Amino acid sequence: MAVLQILEYPDPILKQLSKEVTNFNSSLETFLKDFIETLNSHKYCVGLAAPQTGNLQRIIGIDISRARKPHLNNGLLILINPKILEVSDFKIVREGCLSIPDFTANVKRAMHIVVAYQNAKGEAKILSTKDFEAHAIQHEIDHLDGVLFLDKISNPASDLFRRVRY
Ligand code: CO
Repeated sequence: MAVLQILEYPDPILKQLSKEVTNFNSSLETFLKDFIETLNSHKYCVGLAAPQTGNLQRIIGIDISRARKPHLNNGLLILINPKILEVSDFKIVREGCLSIPDFTANVKRAMHIVVAYQNAKGEAKILSTKDFEAHAIQHEIDHLDGVLFLDKISNPASDLFRRVRY
């Protein structure tokens, strides 16, 4: 296993569209082991998308139990080819990103989502979730479409903040 390097803005790979996973094979399994190790190697990291490691496949990992503050959560989730089916209850929330280490931003997100995805075995699943977990899943899915929170803020003067380092 290996901790993968995290690409940082403005790396052009972060702006690319990731591809659907079609082969649920041993190379996917090997990647997922490294990917999970990478997520776990960053303190308080609650989510990661494969393109942040330079792998342009539609894979995200979420683990809200790793947050600094407690939130309702489903533990570690690996979502492959995720598609949001329903969104509701929009709020402005503060978010950060390992690929944009020096800033956080206020972004509008749905506080309730229903998402279809495949698990590591390729089985089709549906997840209904809310609050911080729903918010984090939307952030990570944006990465699969080459979207960063910097693309979603309307006014940097009021919505972008220098990160306070822990
Ligand atoms: Co991010």
